[in-house]
Amino acid sequence: MTTSYLHLTPDFDLSARNTLALKARSRWGAMLKTVDQVPALFALAAERGLPLRILGGGSNVVLSAEFDGITAVVATRGRSVVEQTEEHVLVEAAAGETWHDFVVWAVEQGFGGIENLAGIPGTVGAAPVQNIGAYGAEVADVFDSLTAFDTVEKVFKTFSSAECAFAYRDSVFKHQAGRYVVLSLRLRLLRPWKPNLRFAGLAELVDSPGLDPRTVMDRVLYLRGSKLPDWRVTPNAGSFFQNPIVPPEEAAPIVAAIPAAPNFPQADGRTKLSAGWLIEQSGLKGFRMGRAGISERHALVVVNLGGADASDIAALAGHVKATVKARFGIALHEEPVFL
Ligand code: EPU
Repeated sequence: MTTSYLHLTPDFDLSARNTLALKARSRWGAMLKTVDQVPALFALAAERGLPLRILGGGSNVVLSAEFDGITAVVATRGRSVVEQTEEHVLVEAAAGETWHDFVVWAVEQGFGGIENLAGIPGTVGAAPVQNIGAYGAEVADVFDSLTAFDTVEKVFKTFSSAECAFAYRDSVFKHQAGRYVVLSLRLRLLRPWKPNLRFAGLAELVDSPGLDPRTVMDRVLYLRGSKLPDWRVTPNAGSFFQNPIVPPEEAAPIVAAIPAAPNFPQADGRTKLSAGWLIEQSGLKGFRMGRAGISERHALVVVNLGGADASDIAALAGHVKATVKARFGIALHEEPVFL
């Protein structure tokens, strides 16, 4: 099935398009290579009465085994320096670019500001949706603006940081899931560069002579590699649960019983706990259930042991949540989106 703009592939296999490598197929598939194809595709789907879902790098999703509609992969390309002043560099990338390649591209030009976010799987378009973060930084810190297609009003829109309502692993795009398709992202990297070395494994770089963004990036990649399983080897979706942010009365009994429990007081009076620690303390690190399991290397990572589909992942996640709730009284929430 083709239009002047779009080619739809029947019986589209998505198992190589999600980092959990789940068995997943879609009745139709499309590759979106230009921004103009986005409204055209939504019009086509509406005309044919077909459900439509949008996929980036597939690194933060649990895909259903069968989807009776169109799955469109955002595959737009392009990176550019929009403006350079003494105070900042504005850089922009198309949503379909790989996030990590964008970080490397910036670092190679000597632009600092996103080196702590190196190695995060997924695309540029997905980065603001869950406000990706690691090593004491998140995309909101350097965000300038983004453009998106509003699938309800059928217009292209520009979003400021305030309009995105960023929070820990959260934005307006999560709350209005499916409404907006992010098309490009613009970041404001401040000058002079100030390294962000607050995170434990990075602090030892403080006072390194001639420290540059590349050295920090290399250190981040080393730390990630030493902790997190590589999805190309052991299929996974990164952190599978968010770190729970709970009222003090829920955190207090845990910290009183086990003083070593990682706990981070938040500005709003609540406390952030470590989901990985809660899962490990519940005896689930390395736990296996059917074709899915908890990584032996990091308790926050759910892995596909071979041949899993969404039902295996859902069953395992349900078991983990119930076990942690029973042991600590804490409700965990999944980070990936179930599509
Ligand atoms: N921990 C355990 N057992 C484990 C893993 C961790 O007890 O198996 C405890 C340790 O005490 C450790 C603490 O949990 O000190 C925190 O672990 P880690 O430093 O690995 O960070 P995290 O909170 O588990 C978060 C992000 C990661 C990000 C790292 C590094 C979330 C949900 N996850 O993990 O993001 O890479 O910090 O900054 O916020 C992702 O989102 O996919 C992701 C990998």
